[in-house]
Amino acid sequence: MRDDLKDVLLSEEDIHQICKDLGEEITAAYKGKPLVCIGILKGSVMFMADLIKYIDTHLAIDFMDVSSYHGGTESTGEVQILKDLSSSIENKDILIIEDILETGTTLKSITDLLESRRVNSLEIVTLLDKPNRRKANIEAKYVGKKIPDEFVVGYGLDYAENYRNLPYIGTLKPEIYSK
Ligand code: IMP
Ligand code: MG
Repeated sequence: MRDDLKDVLLSEEDIHQICKDLGEEITAAYKGKPLVCIGILKGSVMFMADLIKYIDTHLAIDFMDVSSYHGGTESTGEVQILKDLSSSIENKDILIIEDILETGTTLKSITDLLESRRVNSLEIVTLLDKPNRRKANIEAKYVGKKIPDEFVVGYGLDYAENYRNLPYIGTLKPEIYSK
């Protein structure tokens, strides 16, 4: 599997440092207030697991599953809720944890939905951001790393459900897409 990669964009060490820095920034911002961290399945699971170790406040976790991609590398602009939260978030301080913010279609739909549930506050942390691809009017308050407009895999991110188990993030060799 690892032979399919062209370049490594973020090494395990890079990712670890990003999680530590973001965790400290988030800890300082919430000053001990309890949080609900919502991971967007499936891409955010590895990042969420590593990031929350560095957030020093009481927090609950929950998950939401939406689909916007249909196996390929281009967003279709449609978002479908596949799994909703398991508890009420009314009056809670919410931190959405996402793997990558691209067009923003996915996160825009999710934040609109969650804000309608009368939350106290809602912020987004994303490991990766491709700002050049944005279509929806949305930004993440906490960004791990801005990257150029290139398709990446690993550390939760997939191509056709593969490569999520890579411990680092990279780009695929062009021949993988033509298979
Ligand atoms: P958006 O709705 O266009 O912002 O897309 C966000 C979602 O698309 C992310 O949660 C990922 O699941 C997926 N995605 C966007 N870019 C990439 C990429 O480079 N590699 C893998 N998945 C991606
Ligand atoms: Mg995702």
